[in-house]
Amino acid sequence: MAETDVKYGLAGVVTDDTAVSKVMPETNSLTYRGYAVQDLATQCRFEETAYLIWNGELPTQAQLDAFNAQEKANRGLPDTLIDVMRKFPEGAHPMATLRTAVSFLGLEDRQIEDHAIDHLYERSISLFAKIPQIVATDFRLRNGKELIAPDPDLPFSENFFYMCFGEVPAPDIVKCFDISMTLYAEHTFNASTFTARVIASSLSGIYSAVTGAIGSLKGPLHGGANEAVMHMLKEVGSPENAQEWMLTALKEKRKIMGFGHRVYRAGDSRVPTMTDAYKNMVDIIGTDEAKQYWEMSKILNETMVAEKGIYPNLDFPTGPAYYLMGFEIPMFTPVFVMSRITGWTAHIIEQLADNKLIRPLSNYIGQTQRDFVPIEKR
Ligand code: COA
Repeated sequence: MAETDVKYGLAGVVTDDTAVSKVMPETNSLTYRGYAVQDLATQCRFEETAYLIWNGELPTQAQLDAFNAQEKANRGLPDTLIDVMRKFPEGAHPMATLRTAVSFLGLEDRQIEDHAIDHLYERSISLFAKIPQIVATDFRLRNGKELIAPDPDLPFSENFFYMCFGEVPAPDIVKCFDISMTLYAEHTFNASTFTARVIASSLSGIYSAVTGAIGSLKGPLHGGANEAVMHMLKEVGSPENAQEWMLTALKEKRKIMGFGHRVYRAGDSRVPTMTDAYKNMVDIIGTDEAKQYWEMSKILNETMVAEKGIYPNLDFPTGPAYYLMGFEIPMFTPVFVMSRITGWTAHIIEQLADNKLIRPLSNYIGQTQRDFVPIEKR
């Protein structure tokens, strides 16, 4: 194979069909099962979007009620897992603890070899219901706080805030969070989703596939960018420094976190909706610190677009929005997992419904074939 045939990073390669979502970079849009993501984010709750992603249709009220009841019935972590989490090494990154916790859930599932669609759907809802509690449990353990059990009277997003902080914030704050959940839920064959499909294709099981996907999302070139954006804003320090900081970083050829995208070249379709939510958070919190982050973000964005023509991606507004909601920076990517579990598992189900082992080819550039030399003659 000639070197020119290699598609480095699989850029531009179409590897399978999918009916879950569609990215249209030419019109700067993204749809889940045919619905524009902006409409879903602003007009319905995340639970409706989750139902849509798995079932292909928006739910009726009765279907949504049944779905919510199923999610609530699946909340709660086994004591064995909580015991293991108490023993996690101090200072471990929450994405690493989440990866291990999900893998542990797989140890306790006696039916991991069952690839029937109904079974996979049940496991998907179970992970959807349990992952927020893993994230909240890890947060509270790291901070030496008593654990808070899920509240069956609270919906998905409210329950997560409650398990983290012992209270539910104002509805406007919950709405900003819920919007981020919908926007993060699904994005075609990104690195973590493709990882999940590759692992699923070997019939390794849903827990292996999700554990691998969490590992993939953890990286700063993928989901970890929302954390990196907040570290960047802290490094910039003030709006007065922002332009100079960006010009210097570009001169030093640094990769600026929260900018650029493999598929979108003229802007990420999810950014305007999340930027509005970030601005709402700034207005709700109303502190000088919040206003400074907003000003810094604006200047960094303008400078990057003017200098390089590279636009922000979803992580750029989401990182500071999560910070203003009160989440610790290392929690940002685990929070992303709470949402993306919907897309990952929908893709695992789609892959296994008509499975073909994913096994690409490589272009060998090593030594040509040589004669073996015994050790005493080397
Ligand atoms: N900061 C600075 N330069 C960037 C950049 C960024 N965030 N993103 C892309 N570029 C530049 C590259 O340096 C390269 O320039 P060159 O042609 O002069 O070498 C050009 O734009 C193409 O970038 P490339 O890295 O080849 O594009 P890609 O499709 O492989 O990368 C990302 C996509 C997302 C990996 C990349 O934009 C990136 O690393 N972004 C920062 C991390 C991030 O926010 N990730 C979240 C993604 S949702």
